[in-house]
Amino acid sequence: MTTSASFLKTRYGGYLHREVPDEDVEFSRVGPGTPCGEYLRRFWQPICFSDELKDLPHRVKVFGEELVVFRDLSGAAGLLELHCPHRGASLEFGLIDAKGIRCCYHGWQFAADGTILEMPGEPAHSTLKDRFYHGAYPIQEHGGIVFAYMGPPDRQPPFPVYDSFVRAGHRVIPGQKYFYPCNWLQIMENVMDPAHAAFLHTIVSGAVFTDEFGILPELEFRETPVGMIYVASRRVGQNIWVRMAEAVLPNLQQVGPIWEDGHTEHPFSGPMISRWIVPVDDTNTMFLELRHVSETEGVTPAWWADRAITVPGQLAAECYVDGQRRPGDYEAQVSQRPVAIHGLEHISATDRGVMMFRVQTRRGIRAVQAGHDPKGLCCDASAVITTYCNDAVIRMPSDVDPAIDRQLIRETGRRLAEGNLKDRPLSG
Ligand code: FES
Ligand SMILES: [Fe+2]
Repeated sequence: MTTSASFLKTRYGGYLHREVPDEDVEFSRVGPGTPCGEYLRRFWQPICFSDELKDLPHRVKVFGEELVVFRDLSGAAGLLELHCPHRGASLEFGLIDAKGIRCCYHGWQFAADGTILEMPGEPAHSTLKDRFYHGAYPIQEHGGIVFAYMGPPDRQPPFPVYDSFVRAGHRVIPGQKYFYPCNWLQIMENVMDPAHAAFLHTIVSGAVFTDEFGILPELEFRETPVGMIYVASRRVGQNIWVRMAEAVLPNLQQVGPIWEDGHTEHPFSGPMISRWIVPVDDTNTMFLELRHVSETEGVTPAWWADRAITVPGQLAAECYVDGQRRPGDYEAQVSQRPVAIHGLEHISATDRGVMMFRVQTRRGIRAVQAGHDPKGLCCDASAVITTYCNDAVIRMPSDVDPAIDRQLIRETGRRLAEGNLKDRPLSG
């Protein structure tokens, strides 16, 4: 269970504080048969980009499972267990052909659905290849990303199309993929922790987004039908800038433009990015981005449509000392330990979003354990799912009394969040 560590009541009391409690395995373990692993497997999950499937097989590891993904010469993509069922050679060394992939060792050939098409060394009358399948998972491609469903075959949900994927006047492009050597949950928690944008990304490191991110926001957090949003409201001159970033259950983040500065009034921005946080295993995690680019000139900066350019503040510093002088998300999150120990935390006022996300995740894990569908699962193949990421800037002159002004900022954030949840602007 999540508990706050007991408070150390003694100065120079390190000796009294050496015990490290266990990690919360209900969240941290993602392998087959684990509670969280089974929860995450109930959803379609991105595994790589479509353009990574070229003439050679592509080895991936997801949820602790070693897999190979490939596109055969007919254009069909497949995701198979890495190790050949004959005697275990890796299919990453396999030969791709018109109908599937052939193991390099003795030539067994597999289709994308796991059918064994050929066993060249077997006698003609052998029925061995017809008696079993190789392990395979269904996949779908969307927006230049390959998604897999790795859950129980009889519970496969429709592929979820979110409104941000099909937003009028926008196109989606694949972005970057990168890896952090730590557990997935602490990475998901980061986006529901808006206070770090002011401190880590602005005050500590110098502004990696805009200077206005350094204004400490008034914070609210709201559950949505598919997860939650934070509501971070800041005074910028005579404007109030209300930023709402989103966690879509179980492991998708949507974030508004990082070039926002709060100086120009606008009712709605929508997300600049949808980004999945996919566990590779218990202590390694993949980020995979889908970027949103406006078709209207000047709305999205040109650099954002260039895949090679990364969101600032995300990658590890070039060297250790640079990381110490100018830490970013990588240094902060990876240094929480390979798996953050919840039993050592002292939860504070800025952590309300983190705690809400943990509660939602635990609910989802337990729903799956109890045989139910978790919140956020797509149930209707024809539906476009509403999401709630939004930034808005409105003119609202400041009050001379700082306490009254703070209240005004908070109430404005609340009001805009209520409107966002009710009006669902991204769904049009
Ligand atoms: S190990 Fe793959 S065909 Fe023999
Ligand atoms: Fe960050």
